[in-house]
This record gives sequence, structure tokens and C-alpha cells, in this order.
Amino acid sequence: MGNIKVENVHKTYKLGETNVHALRGIDLKVDKSEFIGIIGPSGSGKTTLLNIIGCIDVPTSGNITIDGESTVNLDDRHLTYLRRNHIGFIFQSFNLIPVLDAFENVELPLIPLGYDGEQRRELVNDILEKVGILEFAKHKPDELSGGQRQRVAIARALVIKPSIVLADEPTANLDSDTGNKIIELMKHMNESLHTTFIISTHDPRLLDYIDKKVFLEDGRISRTESG
Ligand SMILES: Nc1ncnc2c1ncn2[C@@H]1O[C@H](COP(=O)(O)OP(=O)(O)OP(=O)(O)O)[C@@H](O)[C@H]1O
Ligand SMILES: [Mg+2]
Repeated sequence: MGNIKVENVHKTYKLGETNVHALRGIDLKVDKSEFIGIIGPSGSGKTTLLNIIGCIDVPTSGNITIDGESTVNLDDRHLTYLRRNHIGFIFQSFNLIPVLDAFENVELPLIPLGYDGEQRRELVNDILEKVGILEFAKHKPDELSGGQRQRVAIARALVIKPSIVLADEPTANLDSDTGNKIIELMKHMNESLHTTFIISTHDPRLLDYIDKKVFLEDGRISRTESG
């Protein structure tokens, strides 16, 4: 799984009397194993587009297909299945659960997938180690720095080895050493597991690795660039 097609997607948010046109007709095709970047100024619709592709939000009109199957009219059971098993989402604002420590936050998505405690411990410790925060496993989100929280959010998204990773500015809070480590981890997953990555970013280090750059402006794709 991992081929994505976005067809004429519009998203309008209603804010009191006003309509905010966050997306104004997006067409985009992403093949399995692609590592693509969404680039655009603040407010251009990057998060909205990732949320819609990740089945966290629904378009006002238009269609999204994953492996040929439309996701916009799926019932809750199928949506849950898709999100739990196949989609890893790295949120711009992390969305960690404050009462759980780093280990528990990352362990959470493994629980419905049927891994036993020992397997979960192994998978969680392995990914915490790879993102460089194993020593903070027992820290709750408010006992972590911004960059450490971001790495917990990354670990939580990657631990299930999803078919599709949607990453919203995943390196924004990281120093350059840590940022490089995370980029290499994502690229390695992309190459070894053929994971599809769609990443919103301004990070020049990350842009070096991107196969295709999609530029968003005011809710529209202004251009795309390969390499
Ligand atoms: N829930 C919402 N209700 C109303 N308007 C919203 C909502 N979410 C986003 N918007 C608006 O939609 C537009 C696109 O927002 P979005 O968050 O997708 O931008 P972005 O490109 O991710 O920006 P940033 O780089 O700042 O994260 C903005 O004008 C924003 O104010
Ligand atoms: Mg955003």
C-alpha cells in the first residue's frame, strides 16, 4: 500500500461569517516509495492537505484515493483500520498525550495491532534509540524539550512501520545533528521498506533528499520540481 491520488480537492473552513478557502483545487499523484516535499508559506494549506490525505480531516469537495480506493466516504471502521495499520502521522504540534511518558506515547499505537508486551518493549526501545531519546523514555512530554518532544512524535509515527508517513515540519525544532539523524532514519525507511513519505518542510537539509517538491501557494499548487 502507498499509492495516493488527490483529485480536485477543496477545503473551506467556516469561521463565523467568513469562509476560509484553505485548499482550492489540489491535484496530486504520489507513487508508493516516493519521498516528496510540500513547500509553501505559512497559511498556504500544507497542514490541511496532510490532514486530508491522512484521513484526519475530510475535503469539502474532491476525492482522495489510496491504492485506488476512495477514502472520503469510508465508514469509521475502515478509517480506523487504515489509520492504525498504514498511516504514520507526525503532527506539527506533536499531539503527545501529556499523562503518558515518552515510552508509553510511542507504545500506544502498537497496542491495537496485537503485539505482546515483550515485542512492544523491543520495538519501542529500538525506535527511541534510533531517534536518540532512549534515555528520556520515562519523561512525560512536559519534562522534555521541544526537539525531544518532536522526536517522540516521530518515533510514535514510525514505530508501526506504516506504508505511508505524513510528516508536518518534522525537523523544525531539531538541531542540525539531530535533524540529520532523523532525515537519515526516514530516508532509510523509505528505501528499505518502500514507505511513501509526504513531508511539509522548509528545511534545506531535508529538501536535499526530496524526490519531488510540490510548491503550495494560497491553497493551490503553483509548481512541482523533481530532484
Ligand atoms: N480549523 C480551522 N478553522 C478555520 N481555518 C483554518 C483551520 N485550519 C486551518 N485554517 C486556515 O486555513 C489556511 C491554511 O492553514 P494550514 O494550517 O493548512 O496552513 P500551513 O501551510 O500548514 O501553515 P503553517 O506553515 O503556518 O503551518 C489558513 O488560512 C488557516 O488559517
Ligand atoms: Mg502547518
